Amino acid sequence: MTDLHTFIREMPKAELHLHIEGTLEPELMLELARRNDVQLPYETLDDIRAAYDFNCLEDFLQVYYLGMSVLITERDFFDLTWAYLEKVKGQNVTHIEIFFDPQGHTERGIGFDTVLGGITRALEQGNKELAITSRLIMCFLRHLPEEAAFDTLDHACRCRDYIFGVGLDSSELGYPPENFTRVFAAARENGFTPVAHAGEEGPPGYVSQALDVLKIERIDHGNRALEDPALVHRIAASGMAMTVCPLSNLRLKVVDDLTRHPLRQMLDAGLCATVNSDDPSYFGGYITENFLAVQTALSLDLAEIVQLGRNAITGSFMSQAEKSISLDRFDAFCQGFPNN
Ligand code: HPA
Ligand code: ZN
Repeated sequence: MTDLHTFIREMPKAELHLHIEGTLEPELMLELARRNDVQLPYETLDDIRAAYDFNCLEDFLQVYYLGMSVLITERDFFDLTWAYLEKVKGQNVTHIEIFFDPQGHTERGIGFDTVLGGITRALEQGNKELAITSRLIMCFLRHLPEEAAFDTLDHACRCRDYIFGVGLDSSELGYPPENFTRVFAAARENGFTPVAHAGEEGPPGYVSQALDVLKIERIDHGNRALEDPALVHRIAASGMAMTVCPLSNLRLKVVDDLTRHPLRQMLDAGLCATVNSDDPSYFGGYITENFLAVQTALSLDLAEIVQLGRNAITGSFMSQAEKSISLDRFDAFCQGFPNN
């Protein structure tokens, strides 16, 4: 057990489901509020932590959008992203595919280029100084109209070299994927790789729609797909990855207890499930803490942890050449443990 936890801490990891705005730690939130003279309804770190008591996705999103209000300048977005990179470097993360929510900022009058500039500058520095490779995925907020998503896509097309994919996040229930059919088609035509949050709170039909209509290449969350055996079979047969977020699921009450988390069921069904942190500052853990918590709750064995670690590489958007280098490095780590 201790050895398994050491293995988890030390293994090279890829993270595929991470909202950069969800890495805003309370300390940095207060610092940026002071720096930018932004009024928050919190005065102390304890006030902030007390607000992180969610009953559902919607509760969380209100606190998440409020937290974003301290992010104003390019330097703020750099500092936010750099703090995440340094944190996960310490967790042996070697590759990240991260989301950002430009509409959460442009709606407040912050320029798209300010947001993207700060994030990409940190990612480039992370590649050079920390050897962390990355892909950036721009999410559309599904509680806003498709027209607003089109405006956001126009910005992304101007900055094509910096944005790898498009995603769909925010409130799920009542906002089916099909609302975004046209903007996803336009994004695909412009070469962006499509993904979407689906089946976190929404029904299995939203997962099927995201596959059929948005033509996504990876499913973010996907928990409720398990309610439909034919859909599970379809996803497993396709080999498509699912980005599962155990501590997020616990904190947003997608599962009532981690011992009842469906991760093992997913692996047993042949799904390419991966472990991710979603919004680590809000949900109480980065990728390592997610692995440790779900290993403990489900008594996952070494073979299952190895499978999850490999799934993150095969399910990533790295090139085939990058994947084979990463898999070799991962396998070498496994063979050398505990002596490496
Ligand atoms: N679900 C939907 N939208 C989000 C999430 C999430 O878990 N995190 C940040 N935006
Ligand atoms: Zn998410």
